[in-house]
Amino acid sequence: METLNKPENEISKILMKKRPNSNTAEGIALHRLRELVRPESERICYDPYAIYFINPEILEFIRNNPDKARAETERYDRFLPGAVNSIVARVRYFDDFVKKSIDEGLEQLIILGAGYDTRAYRIEGLKKLKVFELDHQDTQSVKTGKIRKIFNSLPDHVVYVPIDLAIEDFGQKLQDAGYDQSKKALFLMEGLLYYLPPKFVDEILFFISMKSSKGSYILFDYFPESVIDGSCELEVGRNLHNHLVEMGEPLQFGIKEGTIEDFLVERGFSRIQNVTAEEYKKMYFRGANKDRGVCSLYSFAHAMIE
Ligand SMILES: C[S@@+](CC[C@H](N)C(=O)[O-])C[C@H]1O[C@@H](n2cnc3c(N)ncnc32)[C@H](O)[C@@H]1O
Repeated sequence: METLNKPENEISKILMKKRPNSNTAEGIALHRLRELVRPESERICYDPYAIYFINPEILEFIRNNPDKARAETERYDRFLPGAVNSIVARVRYFDDFVKKSIDEGLEQLIILGAGYDTRAYRIEGLKKLKVFELDHQDTQSVKTGKIRKIFNSLPDHVVYVPIDLAIEDFGQKLQDAGYDQSKKALFLMEGLLYYLPPKFVDEILFFISMKSSKGSYILFDYFPESVIDGSCELEVGRNLHNHLVEMGEPLQFGIKEGTIEDFLVERGFSRIQNVTAEEYKKMYFRGANKDRGVCSLYSFAHAMIE
């Protein structure tokens, strides 16, 4: 079986270099960039800022070795079939959800594990709201450095909250940063919860369900438990598990298949909607994109606080 850290795989080698800021956040930005360079009519999501968050070494490698870069990308897609398509569908689904929430009167957006998420800068209506971005200090300072470069300054509507969500008190930090529990909120956790110990996932979800105004929402993605413990019957699940260990960001939390409703009800949420790979494939991959496969292990879910 091919592995991603073979010496000839230059992009992965650069991505996996040990550094204090998140490798996976950069990997996701790279997937958004792949979508950006597709013909406009075929893009599943659109992030014009993704390129700023890619290591210049990777961009230089792609520019100087387009054939090798293409071969590496194809190897990556064979190793994790459908994963990149599921990730760009996730970006699109979360974008659409944010836009709909703005139309319905959203007052504050809280992005946990924001990494190099650029919604605060590219979704028009968000500039009128307060957006809280939470991530590790090291990743956040790389991000704010890039944001300053792009816009010459940090925008007034974004509050940056450096935090280790697996150690620190999320609720306290968010409140100290100006979170207003009387205002309608949306909590995004995109590509995040599975990196946290289950105890902290619970603390975060209980804080949200107990300290948010009625009509607030959570939106997140998750993997089945078998991907987390490495016992997944699908090869892609075992590859994903091993790949994230190699990236230095191993998976820690999953949800047993078929239990998402109970899991969220027990933590105080209602109006639960689970979005399977089959469903988002149907929603977004049509026409020229109809043959792009997705990965059945990526599911999204949203729920309300009533
Ligand atoms: C896969 S990336 C996703 C980034 C972004 N949400 C996106 O979709 O582009 C995971 C992010 O979660 C952050 N993260 C993981 N564990 C964390 C923790 N314990 N505390 C704070 N942030 C964490 C990482 O730093 C990284 O930015």
